[in-house]
Amino acid sequence: MSTNGMNQYLRAASRALRWQQECQRQMKRCRFDTMATHGIYSMQEALDFNQGSIIEPIYMSTSQAYRNAAEMEAALGYQIPTWCYSRIANPSIYYLEGVLALLEGYGSEVETSCIATSSGMSAIQSATDPFLSSDPGKQGTPVNFVATAQVYGGTYQQFSLRKQQERQVEWRKVVHSRNLAEWESLIDENTRFLYGELPNNPCLSFFDLKAVATLAHKYGIPMIVDSTVATPALLRPIEQGADIVVQSVTKSLATSGFCIAGAVISRKNLVSKINNAPLKADFATYLKLLPNRDNGPNISPMNAVLALNDIRTLRMRMDQMSRSTLKVAQFLQQHNKVENVDYLGLENNALHNLASRYMFLVDSEHDDQYGSRVNRYGHLMSFRIKGGAGKTHEVFDAFKRIWRATDLGRIKSVATIPAISTHSQQGKEGRKLAGIPPNMIRLCVGAEHPDDIIRDLDQALSVIGGKPVRVAGPEFSAGGASSARLGG
Ligand SMILES: Cc1ncc(COP(=O)(O)O)c(C=O)c1O
Repeated sequence: MSTNGMNQYLRAASRALRWQQECQRQMKRCRFDTMATHGIYSMQEALDFNQGSIIEPIYMSTSQAYRNAAEMEAALGYQIPTWCYSRIANPSIYYLEGVLALLEGYGSEVETSCIATSSGMSAIQSATDPFLSSDPGKQGTPVNFVATAQVYGGTYQQFSLRKQQERQVEWRKVVHSRNLAEWESLIDENTRFLYGELPNNPCLSFFDLKAVATLAHKYGIPMIVDSTVATPALLRPIEQGADIVVQSVTKSLATSGFCIAGAVISRKNLVSKINNAPLKADFATYLKLLPNRDNGPNISPMNAVLALNDIRTLRMRMDQMSRSTLKVAQFLQQHNKVENVDYLGLENNALHNLASRYMFLVDSEHDDQYGSRVNRYGHLMSFRIKGGAGKTHEVFDAFKRIWRATDLGRIKSVATIPAISTHSQQGKEGRKLAGIPPNMIRLCVGAEHPDDIIRDLDQALSVIGGKPVRVAGPEFSAGGASSARLGG
């Protein structure tokens, strides 16, 4: 134990921390676009440590060198800021975490922190698992959590197979998430958290977040929200009372489609029945330094920087793509081959009024173009084709401009049929609960001009009952065998 040697590092660390806090305080005075553009990377830092590089550098190194044993001991004991080993922390990852913490906390007094993960799914696992450990005082007592049945298919599988089936952690499903009494009826003393997707992928279901978060706190448990579809440009759940936000950063945050990434953003001092002071004091930092250090699900530096670069333009993209999506949804709504359109921006959507209380383009009141708060509903929508699955496949196969892929959030328009892709594994019963019929197409509208997307939809809808569409092939492009013609 080299306490004397360590003291100089502790003193330097406390000066560095004060400097960092001051930089963050200054950034917190800036508007959303400035935060998204600069994050926590300052000119001073660039000049002092990064050869003046104006863009955050990519630190690919696995590990950090120390001057001597004293510095290493202080660092590995988490007594000074360090990145030590990239499974735990890394400078490039730190810049991504810093900007996401700021953006999710934007507009509120709440202090937030963030840990970036390798995917949205690992963010969900990281955000939920620490609350599901068995209570040392009550060994053998069954643990449960209450979550909406309408969730992304991967989340459905993680909850129903990995947690419920394999670990006997009961998932109590909320089927009508607008019904507060249904949420409350499922909570008991063994419930560890409430969870919901807002809005949900792909049905765009929506619930009254403030009311549900208040309910969670009444029972001393945290409210966790997957806010991937909204992004902090349109909704910041922590400001509305949530304790933890999970993001599939892969989606609209990192719109270019170059990386898989996730994040957990939490408020400091959250409520939980788990008797663990560091967990409650700063959940994301606790995750980063302890459980995720041991489990290893964190992001790579390269992916962190790719995501960081896309985040700078988040607000303007979400604005434009939301406006385009509304136009596309209005077109589909009046089309005689379309049975139904789910988009929260449509005035006749049953959840339009509720969503309009929550979903606003951040800073629109400070924007010359708007000058007041304007609602924006994101770029995800779904619609159902008249005539069942067969006709739905015909329309889907006829898209020429819209990409057929199990993806969303892209700068390019992308569509999928959830029943045969994202939500296929949960089976018919699971799809019924989650509200996924076989004739649903999920469409995420990109940054193209909406007229061109409407034209593509119009020609695709016109093929119903007509000539079959010729599908390119039989080239096989998975796994790199792009030019191999099957069958010789
Ligand atoms: C709402 C939502 N949450 C989480 C995920 C999982 O994210 P990832 O693919 O980054 O693991 C997805 C993926 O589609 C999603 O749509």
